[in-house]
Amino acid sequence: MEKMPYQPDLDRATTTTATTATMTSDWRDALPVLAGSTVTLRDLEVAHAPALFAMLTPEEVSRFISPPPATVEGFERFIEWARGERAAGRYACFAVVPHGMETAIGLFQVRQLEPGFATAEWGFAIGSSYWGTGMFLDAGRMVVDFAIETLGVRRLEARAAVANGRGNGALRKLGAVQEGVLRRSFLKNGQHMDQMLWSILSEEWRQTQALWGPGRVH
Ligand SMILES: CC(C)(COP(=O)(O)OP(=O)(O)OC[C@H]1O[C@@H](n2cnc3c(N)ncnc32)[C@H](O)[C@@H]1OP(=O)(O)O)[C@@H](O)C(=O)NCCC(=O)NCCS
Repeated sequence: MEKMPYQPDLDRATTTTATTATMTSDWRDALPVLAGSTVTLRDLEVAHAPALFAMLTPEEVSRFISPPPATVEGFERFIEWARGERAAGRYACFAVVPHGMETAIGLFQVRQLEPGFATAEWGFAIGSSYWGTGMFLDAGRMVVDFAIETLGVRRLEARAAVANGRGNGALRKLGAVQEGVLRRSFLKNGQHMDQMLWSILSEEWRQTQALWGPGRVH
């Protein structure tokens, strides 16, 4: 996650649900609206910039991820970039909007690590007032389903700083498998930190969903 979110180099939506993601339009034109039990995931829009700036820039949220843009305008530029990358078919970034709200509280992103998305990396961040509410799990399941069933991801990787207890705990909870330590792989505030490498394989995800249903991921 750490290297993805805010690198500039690096609406018409189809309403659907997490478990029955029947696409009637190409995700490159517009991401589908995915409705979960607590949140909706939707295409990032420039209007999301002020809320995302407020949610993602506090130190407790950003300490283990790449520095977010320092201004609302910076978030607007990031969102324009994200939409361009989506249109080019290389990247998808969802805004997380809780039911009953209009503003975004966080984002989930997936980028291809090879052309065609067979191997991809994902990352996420949500405002700290929404931690521990179940919204991560709700949104995370929908994003993994989308990555596997719509983007065609076979292997979904995630990196989390070893010191990031919540980030690693969240991935474990979702059923990701810990593969190893990437030594000194993430530079933050002049310090090279170790990261855990996690993966979710499409066949394992589908088996778990078939066995336990979308409500069980452990
Ligand atoms: C990562 C993030 C989206 C997860 O959302 P969340 O609402 O905090 O996640 P949850 O509370 O559902 O799950 C986190 C789990 O980690 C556990 N956890 C918390 N601190 C922990 C620690 N120090 N060590 C181990 N586990 C820990 C929690 O208990 C929880 O598990 P539980 O529900 O079984 O008790 C959110 O914390 C966030 O945005 N963090 C900042 C950005 C970030 O670090 N992104 C991840 C980069 S990989």
